Amino acid sequence: MPSLDFTPLLAPGLPPPAVKWNGFAKYNFIGGHNDADCLPLNALIQAANDVLTREGKTLATYGLSSGPLGYRPLREFLAQKLKRNAGISCAADEILITSGSLQALDLVNGILLAPGDTVIIEQASYQGALSRLARLGVHAVGIPLDGEGMRMDALAAALDDLKRRGVRAKYIYTIPTVQNPTGTILSETRRHEMLRLAAEHGVPIFEDDCYADLIWDGRRPPALHALSQHGGVIYIGSFSKSIAPALRVGYIVADWSLLARMLALKTDAGSGALEQMVLGEFCPAQFDAHVPQLTRGLRAKLETLMDALNEQFGTAAEFDDPKGGIFLWVKLPDEVDTLKLFAPALAAGVAINPGPEWATDKTYGKSRTRLCFANASHEAIRAGIATLAEVCRREFGVPNRIANVERGGA
Ligand SMILES: Cc1ncc(COP(=O)(O)O)c(C=O)c1O
Repeated sequence: MPSLDFTPLLAPGLPPPAVKWNGFAKYNFIGGHNDADCLPLNALIQAANDVLTREGKTLATYGLSSGPLGYRPLREFLAQKLKRNAGISCAADEILITSGSLQALDLVNGILLAPGDTVIIEQASYQGALSRLARLGVHAVGIPLDGEGMRMDALAAALDDLKRRGVRAKYIYTIPTVQNPTGTILSETRRHEMLRLAAEHGVPIFEDDCYADLIWDGRRPPALHALSQHGGVIYIGSFSKSIAPALRVGYIVADWSLLARMLALKTDAGSGALEQMVLGEFCPAQFDAHVPQLTRGLRAKLETLMDALNEQFGTAAEFDDPKGGIFLWVKLPDEVDTLKLFAPALAAGVAINPGPEWATDKTYGKSRTRLCFANASHEAIRAGIATLAEVCRREFGVPNRIANVERGGA
């Protein structure tokens, strides 16, 4: 029997279909995967056993015994952690647990954005945020960054320009603490300036802080949310980078009046309960000891990556040493188009994120690439960068010295 053709039945306006997954590349520098060797697996197994033994029967009810905001012990842990680390004062009932912070992005966007709106965003930013804005038909105004994060002179100019045109931006989206992809940390002075500008223009700040635990020296400025005098900051975070992305546990910190609007859009009857319970059990006793172990492992991998790039690309690869996180944002020579480098690199087993997908300005992104160093082993980082240099030289003629050996005829 011929199978039914669903094509004419599909709803209008769907995004392009997903590509079938074919496994990870041999040298995997894409996505935000974590370091498998730094996963606190035994402690998570113990936590799962303890919490299920003690209160597993609550799984029989939607929302456990905690209601739609999420597992209460986890929200209580978060309220304490956010106070201690980021200076945020919030009650457990001002925290909504989400299915990863991607759902948090969707919920915040869902209550604020309509097609034709304008938002302000760092010129290099998270592809998951940029692609959502594009799909929603929202105009994203990119603000350049320097070593201290988003440039406040450029933000002031953009806000003034929008005002002249009668446009009120719906929010300023920022990843201020270990920015994705640049790895910068917005200085405290700039945080105050951003809050001042946002208040002056009546624009909220949307603070995405999922890398804040992964700072090499463990020191961070207070969150924008903490420094804000008049509210106006929606804060989101995640356990994806500090524990494990496959758990899919993120959260939103906002005033109840906003969470109430978001809850009305969160139609999944609650995020997965087991992972919330395991984190709620693991974190109070072990989160603080786990994080420095993780960051030590990540820093060592970053050193390997920077060494490999210096060895294989020499001066053809420019980058700043990031303050933390899992990414290196690399500038290759102008003749390299990383969108065109992607396919031949992948064919050689090296997966990279092309810069234009992580930037509001495609010209700025053209010869840049984002490399995740968390997931690949030290050996794979070295071998992968050597392969990438060969492919890049073959396709674009650079680097013309590889491992300090001159290559002719390129
Ligand atoms: C800045 C930023 N926000 C949000 C996310 C989404 O993470 P998750 O949904 O795993 O919490 C990511 C993932 O890479 C990210 O880099």
